[in-house]
Amino acid sequence: MPEFRTNYYNPFFKSDHLTEKDKYIFADDTPEYRFTIIGAGMIGQEHIRVTMLEGRAVIHGIYDSNAGSMENTKEMFHREFPGRNLVLYETLDAACMDPEVDGFIICTPNYTHLEVVKEAVKSGKHIMLEKPMATTLEDALELKQTAEDYQAVFQIGLQYRYKAIYREAVHEVLERRSIGDVKTISIMEHRVPFLDKVDQWNKFSEYSGGTLVEKCCHYFDLMNLFAGSRPVQVYAVGDMDVNFRDFHYEGRDSDIIDDAFVTVKYENGMKAHFNLCMFAPMFYEEITLCGDQGRLKAYENEDFLPLERPSTHLEVLSGESGTARVGAPCYPSVIQESGHNGATYYEHKYFIDNINGDTQSTATAEEGFWSIVTGEAAERSIKTGEVIQIKEMLDGN
Ligand SMILES: NC(=O)c1ccc[n+]([C@@H]2O[C@H](COP(=O)([O-])OP(=O)(O)OC[C@H]3O[C@@H](n4cnc5c(N)ncnc54)[C@H](O)[C@@H]3O)[C@@H](O)[C@H]2O)c1
Repeated sequence: MPEFRTNYYNPFFKSDHLTEKDKYIFADDTPEYRFTIIGAGMIGQEHIRVTMLEGRAVIHGIYDSNAGSMENTKEMFHREFPGRNLVLYETLDAACMDPEVDGFIICTPNYTHLEVVKEAVKSGKHIMLEKPMATTLEDALELKQTAEDYQAVFQIGLQYRYKAIYREAVHEVLERRSIGDVKTISIMEHRVPFLDKVDQWNKFSEYSGGTLVEKCCHYFDLMNLFAGSRPVQVYAVGDMDVNFRDFHYEGRDSDIIDDAFVTVKYENGMKAHFNLCMFAPMFYEEITLCGDQGRLKAYENEDFLPLERPSTHLEVLSGESGTARVGAPCYPSVIQESGHNGATYYEHKYFIDNINGDTQSTATAEEGFWSIVTGEAAERSIKTGEVIQIKEMLDGN
């Protein structure tokens, strides 16, 4: 019989009727690793569920500076994973220095990432740090340098590249070269407004880095990945047109944009465009890549309608250069539905593979840094109305 991870089958079937003695395919793997969640909010809970689903690690403990988040996530954990122990740390230092723990998943708000990482790296343990790495270029650079000198795994939470549509697009465009040499990239994100957060940090650029850093670093990461090059020039227009115009929180007005058009020119001549609207009644994202031998378009759509239709689409049209294909890439539903259309699951799988020395292509701090550079340049272009030269912007910092 070929070797396989027994846990792989567990999510797909119910096996509650069996005693442990009769479980072979359904036997639980003994988890190899213990992780602690730092910042037990919305994505922290997704990381807990996905860690437990993937199965090679367990969640050992949580730390959050907010008592409400600690309580809420503790309840969620015991409700969803009855009988499991969960350590509740009282300080960041205690969480970071627990010798029982193998790694941290850092899910605190963007503006806290640097200070949390500074503490976490003292442990030498593996780290998955949520995107965006930081809110400023200075912090992003410091984090990049910290990560490059770090001996254990240091992975950035830019997991969109593992969504099925982008995974297939990478395969078609970069590996199979189905559309030849890519010349233009166009990405669109149309979605509902930013959701509520603990202390509403995402309504303020100071805490989030601004919309084009906070949210759109995912798309700039994809853009940079497909371009295979670095941005040299960025021009953007954008506004706070609809959302949060009357939002006040603890005496402050929100200052985040909700729509934008961003144009990026790359060192290798590639041209890219990003179109954002955050007042659309859906979660829709689309990528179109045009090459000298064809065109690829892919999208993901969730529009809350009761229509039975695929939520993903990918087409490769090659003209007379080759075969065309049209499909709906997806993962098994249990993975697809576990968070960010399965992307978080594969982020975890590769985090553990990386820890095991089975090195996978995961977002590096260098890539995290360049996603922020692109987003920050776009934010600056909107503010100044000027074309931002990336070299000048970086030299100025
Ligand atoms: N990769 C993705 O797709 C994705 C999705 C959502 C959020 N995120 C990122 O994850 C991070 C958290 O986002 P969220 O949506 O879970 O926010 P959230 O507000 O729901 O949760 C953040 C938690 O961090 C806690 N916190 C704040 N400062 C802290 C500190 N210094 N130490 C410990 N805990 C602290 C808060 O009390 C809160 O419970 C952000 O960086 C965000 O950009 C990534």
